[in-house]
Amino acid sequence: MEDPVIARRAIRKFMSLPVTQEEIKKLIAAFQAAPCGMHQASVMQASVIVDPALRAEVESKTNNSCYGAPLLFVISTKKGNNFGERNASVAAENVMIEATELGLGSVYIMSGASQLNSYPDLKEKLGITTGFDATVIVCVGKAADQPKLEDRSQRYQVVIK
Ligand SMILES: Cc1cc2nc3c(=O)[nH]c(=O)nc-3n(C[C@H](O)[C@H](O)[C@H](O)COP(=O)(O)O)c2cc1C
Repeated sequence: MEDPVIARRAIRKFMSLPVTQEEIKKLIAAFQAAPCGMHQASVMQASVIVDPALRAEVESKTNNSCYGAPLLFVISTKKGNNFGERNASVAAENVMIEATELGLGSVYIMSGASQLNSYPDLKEKLGITTGFDATVIVCVGKAADQPKLEDRSQRYQVVIK
């Protein structure tokens, strides 16, 4: 298989096929292996949402930000923590790379995570601890569509000195 870091692409169309228990275990293991600033693990947590009713509520309250994905990996971080967005982003990448390795599609969602934070009742239903905010949602599922393959080899400026 191609290097999963290079093979990963943002996927925005998913099949309704559920993510299996074995795949969920591997996605969680990838999340658990993520680095965290100053080894402060207690400032980040995740809610893995597969329940259809909960997913539908997240979609309806976030303008369908999660593209109907069958699994939402909601990564939350302690409010005001300096490492929050950084921790959540490296963890999200771990989950997305593992998803690619498993033959699953994924996408990093910032907009839906921010919108979610306006709904304390929904946050509670998702198991997000008081004092934490959703920072990133990683949507995961079998891709229903492959995006046009953009050449990303020159996306960013890189200098070597
Ligand atoms: C900080 C950040 C925020 C993002 N937020 C969203 C989002 O809210 N909705 C979405 O569809 N994609 C979102 N993405 C995915 C990007 O749009 C996607 O990574 C970008 O278009 C590049 O495509 P690629 O991941 O296939 O290389 C986000 C990515 C990052 C890194």
